[in-house]
Amino acid sequence: IPVASFDGVVFGATGDLTMRKLLPALYYRFRDRQIPETSRIIAAARSHHPEAEYRGMAEAALRRHVPEADLDADTIAGFLSLVTYVAVDGAGEEGWSDLSRLLGERPDQVRSYYLATSPSLYGKICRNLATHDLITPQSRVVLEKPIGHDLTSARAINDQVGRVFPESQIFRIDHYLGKETVQNLLALRFANTIFERLWNADVIDHVQITVAETVGVEGRGGYYDTSGALRDMLQNHMLQLLCLLAMESPLSLDADAVRDEKLKVLRALKPIPAHEIPARTVRGQYGPGAIGGQAVPGYAEDLGTGARSLTETFVALRLELMMPRWAGVPFYLRTGKRLPQKMSEIVVQFRSSPFSIFPPESFAREPNRLVIRLQPQEGIKLEMMTKEPGPGGMRLRPTGLDISFEETFNQRYPDAYERLLMDVVRGNATLFMRRDEVEAAWAWADGVLQAWADRPEPPRPYPAGTWGPTAAIALIERDGRTWHENL
Ligand code: BG6
Repeated sequence: IPVASFDGVVFGATGDLTMRKLLPALYYRFRDRQIPETSRIIAAARSHHPEAEYRGMAEAALRRHVPEADLDADTIAGFLSLVTYVAVDGAGEEGWSDLSRLLGERPDQVRSYYLATSPSLYGKICRNLATHDLITPQSRVVLEKPIGHDLTSARAINDQVGRVFPESQIFRIDHYLGKETVQNLLALRFANTIFERLWNADVIDHVQITVAETVGVEGRGGYYDTSGALRDMLQNHMLQLLCLLAMESPLSLDADAVRDEKLKVLRALKPIPAHEIPARTVRGQYGPGAIGGQAVPGYAEDLGTGARSLTETFVALRLELMMPRWAGVPFYLRTGKRLPQKMSEIVVQFRSSPFSIFPPESFAREPNRLVIRLQPQEGIKLEMMTKEPGPGGMRLRPTGLDISFEETFNQRYPDAYERLLMDVVRGNATLFMRRDEVEAAWAWADGVLQAWADRPEPPRPYPAGTWGPTAAIALIERDGRTWHENL
């Protein structure tokens, strides 16, 4: 279904995010005729480029980031004809009259201002938008993460943006919420009665969330080194996954109904007492190693500064939620760069029965687990015990009841940004974070960051291509549990 015709202004239009994610996402939506041809993509950045040159850069980005089979010359030309370039200094004075003139041509059009810039510019760009009278009732502003690096800075950014835009016009992106499999968590939980009845502390032993990446810092060292795994991945993407997994049923799919329930989860995050921080959190940093048989350098070398960094590229922790449904259920979260494979999954492990009619020698006893595979090989698997076929008696083995989304649906999975960018135009904020959510997530993360800062210790080294420091294994094994390994 096509969205309304819109003017999409992208600040930071020469940057990595625009080239790698936003332009390809818009291209696909144009190709599938969701973006009307009367729309404009107004690329804005500080440097000066003739329009043809910027279109050349955009085309090169598409050729690099969109598979060749999805590109064709006519569609590319059609798409690029929507693209206009304007040199604007987001934080300064220059270029704003040009932008005003362009937008003034279509005053009633839906407008989105996508801030793909450093968060330190969000406030200034918003102030400029207001000063130049560019905010209409049909305007929305889209903020990329990170929104701040702690609660105080997040509040400052939210205040600055909030002075200019009402909350209903602010769209804070967490691209994990745009992933098909993440949205599917809502379907899994609230469209299937069987799971919802099992979704509580009486039945569930614990939950694991793993977001593993093989990439290192990829030329983003300047940003990453001031951030680290907790701020870059856990405070936002992983806590959002936790929210969808743990929240009570919202009353509807309305943006505020869903966000109210997510907020309750974030507020229920139990602070980790300072004295438990060493046992319940692990920070790691990759050293040189090998992934898929290929040697890769360590973090220090990837940074290229020669300086020793104390930033973590891996974090694992154990948390609890102060909610009746989850009383006493531990949640183990881990994420890291340069791990053996790119893989995001949620594992819900059910309690085992203390009694069994099967003699111990007849099987390797495994609990039931629901494994929700977010990427890649998206799907859902229920791990169960089954009898091995054969006359050898009752021998049991864990097997999987498996739904592969690829085989079931056999269609391309749109990138998260495709869905989210169209939701902005539609004004649907369900998959975006509200101010109070971002701040509640920071309030909890700040506790961990503060405890780390109070007792500074270098992150534990792990060779690239391994599952993080051994302390991360000890973290869960101390509780008599183990990280899930795919069968
Ligand atoms: C981003 C982080 O938000 O998410 C990156 O800043 C990370 O460090 C990326 O690589 C992971 O996203 P995805 O969609 O590849 O899992």
